Order: sequence, then structure tokens, then C-alpha cells
Amino acid sequence: MRGKVLGLLAALTIAASATAAAASDDPRIAIDLPPDVRETFLEHMRTHMTSLDEVLQLVGAGRVREAGTLARKEMAIGQGLGIGRHMPPEFREMGFAFHRAADDFARVTATVADPPDAAGWKALVAGLAGITTQCAGCHGAFRVK
Ligand code: HEC
Repeated sequence: MRGKVLGLLAALTIAASATAAAASDDPRIAIDLPPDVRETFLEHMRTHMTSLDEVLQLVGAGRVREAGTLARKEMAIGQGLGIGRHMPPEFREMGFAFHRAADDFARVTATVADPPDAAGWKALVAGLAGITTQCAGCHGAFRVK
């Protein structure tokens, strides 16, 4: 029992120092946003997660054209929330690349056979990966304060 407790304590200590190290070594560029803009921005990010999930659900159900329509409506077009003007140019560039990737995916959904053949599925998955790589790239580069 005592050994278990000590083991747990050791694990907690390691976890705590790892967290502290991560905070100081965080290589991401921190963007300073006014509190209300930060709130709106993060809320908007959460809708991206929901939209991506809905797009994947539609693709999985074979409703490929609807997936494209949704991706275009929710991810390809800026939502006009006025967040961009608070962001550095590099962030805006990555934002545009993300919108373009969603638009490219939407275009693929309109051109594949319905139902898609093997090449069509491959193009669809590549199109989705084109979107998620933008999510991952930007998350690796930026954080908000
Ligand atoms: C142009 C940059 C950019 C793109 C593209 C982007 N994000 Fe984000 N996202 C961010 C930043 C910056 C944060 C804040 C991270 C932090 O401060 O730790 C964030 C946070 C989030 C959060 C957390 C929200 C919260 O309430 O804390 C989710 C979920 C998220 N993004 C999902 C996505 C998904 C899914 C995609 C792609 C479909 C995506 N994001 C694309 C920049 C981006």
C-alpha cells in the first residue's frame, strides 16, 4: 500500500514538472485578444469541431454532396465575426488556407461519382485530410492569451 502511494506521488510529481516545463517551453505564438473577442473566437473554434464532426458523419453515411454543402457553409466561408482584424498576418494566412481547404473539399464532393468509386473515396479522404492538416498546423503555431 505504502509503495503504491509513493509510486503515485512520484508519478504526480513527474506530471506536475512536465506541465510546468510545457508552459515555459511552449513554442506557440501567443495572441493577445480582448476578453470578449477571445470568448467569441474560442466559441467559433468549438463550432469548427462540431462542423468537422458533422461533415465526417455525412461522408460516413455516404451523403457526400451534403457533406460538401455543409463544409462550404460552415468552414469555407468566413463567418464575418470580425475576429481577423485582431490577428497577426501569419494567422490570417493560415485562416485563409483553412477556408480554401474546406472549399477544395466541397469541390471534390461535387465531382466524385455518386456513390463514389474507390478513387472517389480516396479523393474525399484526401480532401478531409487537407482540412484537418490546417487545424493541426494552426494549433501548433498559435495560442491565445
Ligand atoms: C488559423 C488558425 C486556426 C485554424 C485553421 C483552426 N484553429 Fe482551432 N484554435 C486556434 C487557436 C489559436 C486556438 C486557441 C488555442 C490555445 O489558446 O491553446 C484554437 C482552439 C480550438 C479549440 C478549443 C476551443 C476552446 O473552447 O478552448 C477547438 C475545439 C478547435 N480550435 C478546433 C478546431 C478545428 C476542428 C479546426 C479545423 C476544422 C480548427 N480549430 C482550425 C486556431 C486555429
